[in-house]
Amino acid sequence: MEFLQGGRKNKIGRIANTVHRPAGPWTQSVHALLRQVRAAGFTAVPHPLGFDEAGNEIVTFLAGDVCNYPLSAAAASQEALVSAAQLLRAYHEASRTFLAQNLESHTWLLPSQTPIEVICHGDFAPYNVVLNGRLAVGLIDFDTAHPGPRIWDIAYALYRWAPFTHPQNPDRLGNLETQIERARLFCDAYGFPVAQRHNLVEMMILRLETLVTYMQAEAQKGNEAFIANLADGHHLLYRADIEYLGEKRPFIQKSLHR
Ligand SMILES: Nc1ncnc2c1ncn2[C@@H]1O[C@H](COP(=O)(O)OP(=O)(O)O)[C@@H](O)[C@H]1O
Ligand SMILES: [Mg+2]
Repeated sequence: MEFLQGGRKNKIGRIANTVHRPAGPWTQSVHALLRQVRAAGFTAVPHPLGFDEAGNEIVTFLAGDVCNYPLSAAAASQEALVSAAQLLRAYHEASRTFLAQNLESHTWLLPSQTPIEVICHGDFAPYNVVLNGRLAVGLIDFDTAHPGPRIWDIAYALYRWAPFTHPQNPDRLGNLETQIERARLFCDAYGFPVAQRHNLVEMMILRLETLVTYMQAEAQKGNEAFIANLADGHHLLYRADIEYLGEKRPFIQKSLHR
C-alpha cells in the first residue's frame, strides 16, 4: 500500500486502483450518495466498494492530478476554476435525486442546514477535485457531505477557489480584484443567480465560523487531526480570513452583485 498525500497524513492508502480511507458512522450514507449520483448520471465520483478488514472504506481511485495549496499553474487557471464550478453544479443536480430518499434514515458528519436543496459536498476545494490537465474531471473526499442549500457549498467553494484569503495567508493567489473576478467567474459558470449573490460574503463568514467552532469542539474531544491543525495555527488563518472578509464585505458584495 502507498499513502496518498494532500489529506490527512498516513491515513489515505492506495492499493492498485482503490483508495482505503478511515470510515465513520456517516460512511454508509456517503456510499449510498455516491451510488445515487452515479445512477443519476454524474460519474465524476469514485465507486464505493465497501470496507476492508480494518474497517476502512474502499473507493475507486480517480486518475488525474489533485493539487493542494500553493496551487499549481493548472489548478490556479481559469479553465480549472470554470470547469470546477460546472462540476459542482452537475454534482448538485445529481444529488437532488438523493432527496427522494428518506433523509431521516441517513447519518452525516456535519449537521444538515436549511433549506435543503442539495447534498452539499462540504469541502469543495482544489485539494478535493481531480484535474486532467486544466480540466476538473473528478470529485473526491465526501466525508463532509450533508444536506443543505446550494449557497452553503458555493460560499465555501468561493472561499477556497477565489481564494478569499487575507494578504498574509500563504494560499493567496492575487489581490482583492483578482479574488472578486474569480468568484464572479465561478458563480457564472455554476449558474448562480446574480440576484442571490448579495448573501455570499455573509455565508462565507458563517461557514468559516462554523468550521472553526467545529475544529475546536473536535480537538476538545481528542480528535488528533484537529488537535494538530490547531497546533499549526489553522484556526488563526481562518480567523484572519474571516476578519478580512468582514472588512471587505461591502465592496465584495457590490462587485459580485453586478
Ligand atoms: N478516490 C480517489 N481518487 C484519486 N485520488 C484520491 C482519491 N481519494 C484520495 N485521493 C488522493 O489522496 C489525497 C487525500 O485524500 P482525501 O480523501 O482528500 O483525504 P482527507 O479526507 O484526509 O482530505 C487527495 O488529495 C488525493 O490526492
Ligand atoms: Mg481531502
